[in-house]
Amino acid sequence: MDSFASASARPDRYQYVAAILLLATIPLLAVALGALDMPRWAWLLAAMAASVPPAGGAVALGGAAIQRMREGITRRERRFRNLLESAPDAIVIVDQRGRIVLANDQTTAVFGYKTNELVGQSVEILMPESLRATHEGHRAGYFDAPSTRPMGERLNLMGRRKDGSVFAAEISLSPLDAEEGMLATAVIRDVTERRRLEDERQRLRAEAEAERTRQRMAMDLHDGIIQSIYAVGLNLEAAADDIATNPGEVAARIDRAIDDLNDTIGDIRAYIMELRPARFSGEVAESLTGIAHEFRVNSLIETTIDVTQALPPLTSEGGSALFHIAKEALNNIRRHSRATSVEITLRAVDGAVQLDIADNGAGFDQSHTHAEQHNGLRNMASRARTAGGTLNIESTPRAGTRIRVEIPGKQQSGEPG
Ligand SMILES: Nc1ncnc2c1ncn2[C@@H]1O[C@H](COP(=O)(O)OP(=O)(O)OP(=O)(O)O)[C@@H](O)[C@H]1O
Ligand SMILES: [Mg+2]
Repeated sequence: MDSFASASARPDRYQYVAAILLLATIPLLAVALGALDMPRWAWLLAAMAASVPPAGGAVALGGAAIQRMREGITRRERRFRNLLESAPDAIVIVDQRGRIVLANDQTTAVFGYKTNELVGQSVEILMPESLRATHEGHRAGYFDAPSTRPMGERLNLMGRRKDGSVFAAEISLSPLDAEEGMLATAVIRDVTERRRLEDERQRLRAEAEAERTRQRMAMDLHDGIIQSIYAVGLNLEAAADDIATNPGEVAARIDRAIDDLNDTIGDIRAYIMELRPARFSGEVAESLTGIAHEFRVNSLIETTIDVTQALPPLTSEGGSALFHIAKEALNNIRRHSRATSVEITLRAVDGAVQLDIADNGAGFDQSHTHAEQHNGLRNMASRARTAGGTLNIESTPRAGTRIRVEIPGKQQSGEPG
């Protein structure tokens, strides 16, 4: 702040008092000269003495006015300094030749230079060597058309500390019309920590996205591909049991198992390509009719599917959720229920698609299913939730199970059509 130090008012006050005292000695001198019988000089001094009060008054008034003005300037200057020092950022004021005329104390915290080390130095001292030459050009350009703006918005700005270390900086510039000509104020902020936090946030977002993808893949593998292979295995097991008694039917079953395995290979290929089984066509009614048919053929359980014609359109996530939930529900029926019939119903309810899958099998006690060992029901609930919908299971031992899923239509879930 040394460069802005102004002359203190106190010496001036003494000068005016001294001047008035000096003038006040003139009448005394006139009286002395009269007493010494030097009338001409005494008259001259008497005339001067007569002018002492007005002259003294004028000097005193003028002095006081100048004094007030100087005090006003010091007050303004103090306010200006307070403003600079209260800023959380380094502030450097630079003249047109690029010389630093003022730096606030925060500059020391940011750059490690004392302010008096900076005043008079070229502003480029605060930049890494590699940027200095370019900056000199930019600086000249700035004074041709000074304006308040962030510096080099798309540039990766760097500051250089006294110890040579560099840091990511954000700098904003504004012109300052001062007595000594046009100056530029640069407000410099060390944004290392902010950039680090932004990078960290970005990394966490990417990690969360990767985790979601991993979970979805695990669910797709479990509910889609593994279930398909499992179903083929069940069929072959049953075929093995029947081979002696009904060889003709077994041959047909083995053929179907081969077809199913080929389909599954197709699924895996498509899955690798798109990370989701291809057999979900994107059309819920069509895909569910397909898996109902497949289920009936493979399980030999009587299966009906009833589709209300006008279903509200679903988001792709919603459609895929319904498809995988239905697959897992049917696999559970085949593995656990000993049911003889299954009814699948798809209907529109208040802008949502409602899917019911009801079997007449063994039913189960939901309080006895432990999520750690069983993924299927948990995955179903999670898929429904992720698609903004609900899953509801009604099961009574010996009276069958009904799974009801409701997935909101595209409009309801706010996705553009
Ligand atoms: N339709 C059903 N009829 C009878 N029991 C069922 C039915 N659906 C589910 N269950 C019971 O609920 C349990 C949990 O099912 P869930 O799908 O979560 O696991 P899982 O089928 O045993 O194993 P996986 O994790 O391979 O799916 C099953 O073990 C079974 O006892
Ligand atoms: Mg299951």
